[in-house]
Amino acid sequence: MSTCEHEGVERILFTQEELARRVTEMGAQITADYAGKDLLVVSVLRGAAIFMADLVRAIELPLEMDFMAVSSYGAGTTSSGVVRILKDVTSSIEGRHVLIAEDVLDSGLTLRALVDELASRGPASLAVAALLRKDVPNQAEIACRYVGFECPDEFVVGYGLDYAERYRNLPFIGVLRQDMTE
Ligand code: PRP
Repeated sequence: MSTCEHEGVERILFTQEELARRVTEMGAQITADYAGKDLLVVSVLRGAAIFMADLVRAIELPLEMDFMAVSSYGAGTTSSGVVRILKDVTSSIEGRHVLIAEDVLDSGLTLRALVDELASRGPASLAVAALLRKDVPNQAEIACRYVGFECPDEFVVGYGLDYAERYRNLPFIGVLRQDMTE
């Protein structure tokens, strides 16, 4: 990784080791909760791709993976309030135990839209695993069965999270330097 990627980061919030430890714990909990169930893990591109990749390898059960792509932020740092489904799952949801793996719950608009959409397709159960839950005012009420970390209301990058499509490959999660967005 180049030094210039680090230069955009003001401080590290969650180290690579902390992320690995917590995702392993989440996987163990999910393994216990879904034993004997037909589990479909749905990830939300692109931010959750890295969390998904690590989480499913921490779940010691047979499972299927599928992907959706939605858009809420565009290239800026604040939520537009608009959620569009850009890519749908290919699997059938009906009768499956569906777990949505999401990188960050911010305004909650993305998860609200996804949960409502997938719930309407008749899953046997529907739950959310969010790596980060941001502490923001007026967050949509989303029941997250699994939360990795509570996160301050700052612009965070790394471990899948981007600013203008950069920083996703940082192995840690850090706060973006404010002057990077000016
Ligand atoms: C980000 C993030 C979540 C969503 C959370 O995605 O990955 O999916 O926003 O925000 P919300 O709770 O305010 O809806 P983004 O639209 O930036 O796309 P990306 O996953 O491709 O980075």
